[in-house]
Amino acid sequence: MTKRKILITSALPYANGPTHLGHLLEYIQTDIWARFQKMRGHETYYVCADDAHGTPIMLNAQKQGLTPEEMVRNVSVERQRDFADFNIEFDNYHSTHSEENKVLAELIYNRLNAAGYIKKRTISQLFDPEKQIFLPDRFVTGTCPSCKAENQNGDSCDACGATYSPTELISPRSAMSGAEPVLKDSEHYFFDLPAFEGMLKNWLHSGSLQQEMANKLEEWFAEGLQQWDISRDAPYFGFEIPGAPGKYFYVWLDAPIGYMASFKNLCDKKGLDFDAFWAEGSDAELYHFIGKDIIYFHSLFWPAMLDGAKFRKPTNIFAHGFITVNGAKMSKSKGTFIKARTYLDHLDPEYLRYYYAAKLNSGITDLDINLEDFAQRVNSDLVGKVVNIASRCAGFITKRFDGKLSDTLAEVELFNEFTTASERIADHYENREFGRAVREIMALADKANQYIDAAAPWVLVKNEDTQTQAHDVCSMGIQLFKVIMTYLKPVLPGMASNVEQFLNTQLSWDAVATPLLGHQITAFKALMQRVEMDKVNLMLDESKESLAAKTTIDPNSPLAKEPIAAEIEFDDFAKIDLRVALIAKAEHVEGAEKLLKLTLDLGGETRQVFSGIKSAYQPEQLEGKLTVMVANLKPRKMRFGMSEGMVLAAGPGDKEIYLLNPDSGAKPGMRVM
Ligand code: MSP
Ligand code: ZN
Repeated sequence: MTKRKILITSALPYANGPTHLGHLLEYIQTDIWARFQKMRGHETYYVCADDAHGTPIMLNAQKQGLTPEEMVRNVSVERQRDFADFNIEFDNYHSTHSEENKVLAELIYNRLNAAGYIKKRTISQLFDPEKQIFLPDRFVTGTCPSCKAENQNGDSCDACGATYSPTELISPRSAMSGAEPVLKDSEHYFFDLPAFEGMLKNWLHSGSLQQEMANKLEEWFAEGLQQWDISRDAPYFGFEIPGAPGKYFYVWLDAPIGYMASFKNLCDKKGLDFDAFWAEGSDAELYHFIGKDIIYFHSLFWPAMLDGAKFRKPTNIFAHGFITVNGAKMSKSKGTFIKARTYLDHLDPEYLRYYYAAKLNSGITDLDINLEDFAQRVNSDLVGKVVNIASRCAGFITKRFDGKLSDTLAEVELFNEFTTASERIADHYENREFGRAVREIMALADKANQYIDAAAPWVLVKNEDTQTQAHDVCSMGIQLFKVIMTYLKPVLPGMASNVEQFLNTQLSWDAVATPLLGHQITAFKALMQRVEMDKVNLMLDESKESLAAKTTIDPNSPLAKEPIAAEIEFDDFAKIDLRVALIAKAEHVEGAEKLLKLTLDLGGETRQVFSGIKSAYQPEQLEGKLTVMVANLKPRKMRFGMSEGMVLAAGPGDKEIYLLNPDSGAKPGMRVM
């Protein structure tokens, strides 16, 4: 077999918001394929990066009081932890906000420009006069021009499905400030996509694109290709366009270049040859795994940009469908919008990898996670079939035969049947028919179990005369288990690694037909727990709680200005001793601009507290009122004396400070929980 050079990418996730089960479909699918190619001995690299640029990220950072760079860095740390914990193994994970990407984006742009593929034109767009920013479609809301439904997005109507441009909305509003947008002119830069129509048609017909993708391309050609607006005006988080101050590359211009940038970064670290993979005429293979929503960018703009800038084009683009959970779109209110981290808090990542593999094929159809089916499938296949083979044989080998497998293969034919499946299963993986691969492997697992059932080693071991037979049968079971786990290794790398320890050998595709004769194994440890529906349900409950409140946040709401803090344990909360307190005395403090001195009666003890509420309250308004205080806060020495606690108040400050009052009936000293 010839050794191929393969570069594989997954779409670069927006550095905006948490990883969820939808994302994971793609990264798990790609990871399985990359691991498979590596197991087959090909020179394979799997790279990815954060997609860091664009208006939504810029605004989200603002909302959190961070610079975009800071926010992007925070998200990246979490993202990479999520991926690692799902055993998704990149050769490199980079960012589009990187030096490599800037250099490459400028290079590609300059080449396109020099070749005459960049056009300039003045266009009129909605502008937020309050925030002084051009509004992307999704930041404009208004009444649908077609059915008059209110509160619709700038590009399409949820009520009637009409699509339109944001300038057609009736009484449009900026979702950022609520202000009425105005039309404003600005010069924009366009990429001349229509100039590439001939090239793209050839590429479509010469390649082996997925049928669904080829059909879409044909449709788009029939509609006619348009010039693509690649510039955005400041303020924008991105790269400034060379020679165009105040104009930035639209996020989708530099995003796919991020594939190259991440690989460049890897080349620099490892001393690899970048051009061998990206230069025109390269014999390396280049594959992009993406979701069906971003086919247009990858199958039209991207090959055209590469072609226009004299780089090689992708060998193929592999699109997948979208995830639904229990038959419906992921929903925050149903708790089916499941974050990677919430899943990991309750369930083994290998379950999901297996379930996705079992349901994946090479097409673009959506994939449903039915959670009952998920539990049932993992339990019956992995625990009931695969692990069962080892657990029924391993104990005897360890206890009766010193952990050593027998020197002979009990059933040569059966073993050959298992190992000759190797190329067929490899073909399924290669063609991204993971479901087929899994079905074949499970059929083998059934056969292995039938063999063990029939040979009944638990009976053989009881009889002195059949010890050798018992040894041979158990060893045979382990040999079959090894073959099965070798085939499953791309899907279940975590479990495979435990199996490698148990079998005291590496599971490699090349060695699949080599039995471990007379081989020492180690003690068997449980390889996988059953999926418990209780845990699945807990995961759903938690997804409801953590996200339900966040569904619609008005940008001017207190929540938007100060997002809810990181989750704490109940014990953390219980440390805070909150008590009902009577404000016995409230006094001005000589020389203090903001403070009032409060004497708080806890029904037995009194405390003196200095509180910064003078801008909102007169002392006489407070005396005799009940409030809530933090009673166990460490006393703090202030300029005017000791402050022995804190009273609770809400509001941004100044005139807007609202002291908390308990309902009538509460008594000083009562604990607040
Ligand atoms: N940043 C762009 C991609 C740029 S590639 C040069 C983007 N990011 S994303 O975070 O929105 O999505 C990342 C990938 O996850 C995309 O391929 C997208 O299709 C996929 N998925 C996001 N939600 C998904 C589901 N619910 N189901 C399956 N895949 C989904 O798009
Ligand atoms: Zn409508």
